Amino acid sequence: MAERQKDEETVLDRILTLELARVTERAAVSAARLRGRGDEKAADQAAVDAMRRELNQLPIDGTVVIGEGERDEAPMLYIGEKVGTKAGAKVDIALDPLEGTTLCAKNMPNSIAVIALAPEGGLLNAPDSYMEKIAIGPGYPAGTIDLDLPIATNLENVAKAKGVEVSELTVCVLDRPRHAKLIDDIRATGASIYLIGDGDVAGIIHTTNSEETGIDLYVGIGGAPEGVLAAAALRCIGGQMQGRLVITREEQRERAKRMGIDDANRKYTLEELACGDVLFAATGVTDGNFLKGVKLGRNAITTHTVVMRSTTGTVRYIEAQHTQLEKFHLD
Ligand code: FBP
Repeated sequence: MAERQKDEETVLDRILTLELARVTERAAVSAARLRGRGDEKAADQAAVDAMRRELNQLPIDGTVVIGEGERDEAPMLYIGEKVGTKAGAKVDIALDPLEGTTLCAKNMPNSIAVIALAPEGGLLNAPDSYMEKIAIGPGYPAGTIDLDLPIATNLENVAKAKGVEVSELTVCVLDRPRHAKLIDDIRATGASIYLIGDGDVAGIIHTTNSEETGIDLYVGIGGAPEGVLAAAALRCIGGQMQGRLVITREEQRERAKRMGIDDANRKYTLEELACGDVLFAATGVTDGNFLKGVKLGRNAITTHTVVMRSTTGTVRYIEAQHTQLEKFHLD
């Protein structure tokens, strides 16, 4: 009986991985209809509506732990919202129906619809604050990067482990005034910088395929929720990451406390950001380095999605042609 139950759980997990693709596909298509219209809010709302509708059809007893915000500020997919049919396993969910709202509104590369699932308690309940982050892809010895070391030392360590000169490395950084010194410090080492306007979940995932993307390391301050989502992806593909919350206001400290975080200065490892059997899915909204955007054709909608699972390490890329367009008229 126990064996049978275990088998059923495994099958459920496997099915869920693929089911997640539908959730991000729908969110991405809805957002894609509003690409380039200059209206971040409308695109985000469309993605939220679609993602919520699909999530509520999944056979899970899910709780949103990283979502659109606190209950009083987000009417849908708020932190603590229960989703799914309640029939299945208890899972925690981190989601961003439209990661890179500005990128979508401007029709610029790398906006994605993204979600991660883990067994209850598996995802850091991060407040909506900033997070210092550093990340590299798979294949490096443990401990190659450390948030507490100067960026020049981190780059030397990555270069040594990769067997190249520091000047051959490329670092992805969010283009923000707060990163002016960081950018100067990186340039002083001779390394190259790949500046992104938004979207550091994709930025971090890019480090996992440096052959293709040319990006070796991600560093800088971005959203804490996005940090947990990126960590979930790295748990599946491999790689190293550390994060530390940036708590500047008393109200954020209070919020963090309510979420069970007593030490706001704690440095989190990858496994502390996302642990257990993690599932991750993302669908491209606009064209990007690792996922193509939604193609809205006359007879079919084409989506590109990646789904992954940490337990098996399987990474699947799914190109889907959706021909029953009437189904999408709901979105
Ligand atoms: P949104 O999708 O919420 O617009 O977030 C985009 C983003 O660029 C994230 O990828 C990143 O973590 C965060 O914003 C950085 O925040 P800020 O724009 O305040 O620097």
